[in-house]
Amino acid sequence: MTVTAEDPSEPPVPVPAGVSVPPDAVPLPSTEELDRLVAKLDLPAKVRLLSGSAVFRTPAEPAVGLRAITFSDGPVGVRGERWDERDAALTLPSPTALAACWDEELVEELGGLLAGEARRKRIDVLLAPTLNLHRSPVGGRHFECFSEDPLLTGRTGAAYVRGVQSGGVAATAKHYVANDSETERLTLDAHIDERTLREVYLAPFEAAVQAGAWVVMSAYNAVNGTAMSESPLLDEPLKGEWGFDGLVVSDWGAVRSTAASARAAQDLSMPGPNPLWGAALVRAVEDGTVPEAAIDEKIRRILRLAARVGALAGQPPHSFPAPAPSPAAARTLLRRAVAAGAVLLRNEEALLPLDRTRLRTVAVIGPNAAAARIQGGGSAGVFPATALSPLEGIRGALAGIAEVQHCAGVFLTARPTPLSARDARDPRTGEPGILVRYLDDQDAEVHVEHRLSGRILEPTDDGADISAATTVEVSALLRPARSGEWQFAVVGLGQVSLLVDGRALIDEYVTPESRDPTYLHVAPSFRQVAWQAEAGQDVRLVARRRMEAGSGYAVALAADPPRRDEDAELAAAVELAGSAELAIVVVGTTDEFESEGFDRPGLALPGRQDELVAAVAAVNPRTVVIVNSGGPVAMPWRAAVPAILLGWFPGQEAGDGLADVLFGAAEPGGRLPTTWAARTEDVPVLDTVPVDGVLHYAEGPRIGYQAWLHATNEPAFWFGHGLGYTSWSYEGVSAPGTLAAGAALTVDVRLRNTGARAGREVVQVYLSRPPDGSARGPERRLAGYAAVRAEPGETVTATIRIAPRAFQYWSPEHSGWRTEPGDVALFVGSSSAELPLRAALEVTAETSVAGPGAG
Ligand code: BGC
Repeated sequence: MTVTAEDPSEPPVPVPAGVSVPPDAVPLPSTEELDRLVAKLDLPAKVRLLSGSAVFRTPAEPAVGLRAITFSDGPVGVRGERWDERDAALTLPSPTALAACWDEELVEELGGLLAGEARRKRIDVLLAPTLNLHRSPVGGRHFECFSEDPLLTGRTGAAYVRGVQSGGVAATAKHYVANDSETERLTLDAHIDERTLREVYLAPFEAAVQAGAWVVMSAYNAVNGTAMSESPLLDEPLKGEWGFDGLVVSDWGAVRSTAASARAAQDLSMPGPNPLWGAALVRAVEDGTVPEAAIDEKIRRILRLAARVGALAGQPPHSFPAPAPSPAAARTLLRRAVAAGAVLLRNEEALLPLDRTRLRTVAVIGPNAAAARIQGGGSAGVFPATALSPLEGIRGALAGIAEVQHCAGVFLTARPTPLSARDARDPRTGEPGILVRYLDDQDAEVHVEHRLSGRILEPTDDGADISAATTVEVSALLRPARSGEWQFAVVGLGQVSLLVDGRALIDEYVTPESRDPTYLHVAPSFRQVAWQAEAGQDVRLVARRRMEAGSGYAVALAADPPRRDEDAELAAAVELAGSAELAIVVVGTTDEFESEGFDRPGLALPGRQDELVAAVAAVNPRTVVIVNSGGPVAMPWRAAVPAILLGWFPGQEAGDGLADVLFGAAEPGGRLPTTWAARTEDVPVLDTVPVDGVLHYAEGPRIGYQAWLHATNEPAFWFGHGLGYTSWSYEGVSAPGTLAAGAALTVDVRLRNTGARAGREVVQVYLSRPPDGSARGPERRLAGYAAVRAEPGETVTATIRIAPRAFQYWSPEHSGWRTEPGDVALFVGSSSAELPLRAALEVTAETSVAGPGAG
């Protein structure tokens, strides 16, 4: 293959329609070819390529035929290079919900959908999946990670990577490694012993690399004393032992040194330009502090990534299928995913599925019923084109059948609600929407935009020069639907003001409370005022913020309608519930409680939601609770309600997908990817607060269900638990009696659908060493799983392949994986606690040390 680097504008060779090439079949430039390109660049030109040219973009270099490479968050959708609500994104369920599917085929298909979105938005690299673990259930980005179990995380993550990359878009395994909580996330130093690191926290990254991930993101935090952007772990095991030939991008702002990070196997610093990797790095190479060979290797990796995503001229053309399903097909898939990930935790007397034809009156209650809480907060946020709330979904399903009434019962958010095109008009044109003006020092207009949201997270849209602007102004006309005391707010840092009908009600300097990028740029502080408004009489709102360095990008104009007194609201909801045949209560969190940048204080549902559920259940025995959260919450009322359905953050098709489950159009397919505690204080591994900057992973490899096996109190729901709409009998397991060290194992499990409906069952195999034997093995660890489907009365066999790794442990003494000979018990069942079948196995002694990467 010839690299014609001289001509970046070379026209692509036409590809026959419908021909696709698996990502790894794309021939890549050889090391010699890459070296030839590197040799064309002088040192400053090379160093220029090592940090971004903007927040989500790298510099182009025509001398080697390199165009800019574009990045976007991830993981629930492809936001695009810019935070702009006009650029809508298909929005998937939260990663916790994807892991709950235990369905790699579906996750891969969803990854393909994301690839189509990325291609549509001209994004080369999707900043997902997040492969950190649910070490503690209060971790702020729990919703964005898959599971507490490394195997489930690894398999789900690998499927996600394959799906995204099948469309020619790079997936990013992030955040490498041990970014499992958010408190002091930029600086925390996770102290983890070698064996735990290998067996637990690195394992999902290893799986992603084996699946062919093109990009890995180094985390903000440090591990065992070294910041991850400077860590030897980038070399070994990542690039050495695992053979990762892709690119290591930093988390945004994580490169905070010149020589230490440049000498490490950190390839690209984002965003950019990063002055630490600018002239300072050129000097460090010139004075010999950083070897030029290290720089060359980074460039080679950037060029290799560019070749993979079609950003390097002269490479074979991209012949990936452009996975662009019709909008209707995409929505159908997303709707299917909601049901596939929804976990039915409890279903007394088979209350679910509900027979629609028998319903006449339904009360839909709860703060998250009418407001679609479809995603968690932080850098992962995307702008859905539509977002169907549970209430809308239920109403749609019961249209013409039953009367559906709604009452929130509890008010959850303290954060103001930004105006939107649904409730505000542009004061200039009267069109639905918001006016944004960028003004210079004399208040002269530099640039004007019409927006669909009062939350503006970017300085301006592409192309406009706003360098002369010093103030951003967001204004709108609001016609209040109700008379009463409204709350108006301006969100943003630095000098902010708010004018209501020409009166300056806020004018103050808001000092940042944190340096965390998510706080600064996505969800900064706000200031709010009360205002008596009359229904139907327009109010003119003008928010302003001075654009000062260090005060972030965000500004928002927000308005919240008068609220009923909380007691009266709760009483109204309970009365409504008592008068209906059925009560559906949607409780949960919001991005104010579950987000990047901070951990949750505990598992309690925010506000008076527990009180609400208990009161509703007391007046209506037919109460279904839908939990709308990304991570575990405590449910002190759980024994008092007959049905509990966990919907996670379900993505844009929340309403229809949940209605499908409620009314039986789809079976709830989810199984818990993480153990749910009954109470915060029972959680065996909870603490996420570093002491003097250090967070000790003192529990070692035992997290999640493995830790719960040793806890004093039982959890509310174990890892792997989830009910479908049919029942199963586990009839037998067959497995060989002996296994040679280093070999894979196949286990066949026979089970029968004993219910009246076709269904899908996730058969789980856990491995256990006798507790009185060697202390090395875990007492119960997920070793494999497979899903089966069966018709009523049908018997099927689930074939579960267990990789050699399941029988191995990491030996620091040998710096390698070892198989421990001896007796092993296999437990088979439907969750980590429901294990009706058992098989015994003897693992024979290994003849030589198992090589790295077995598995
Ligand atoms: C997050 C990353 C994200 C990046 C870019 C960081 O704050 O930790 O997950 O990809 O920002 O938005």
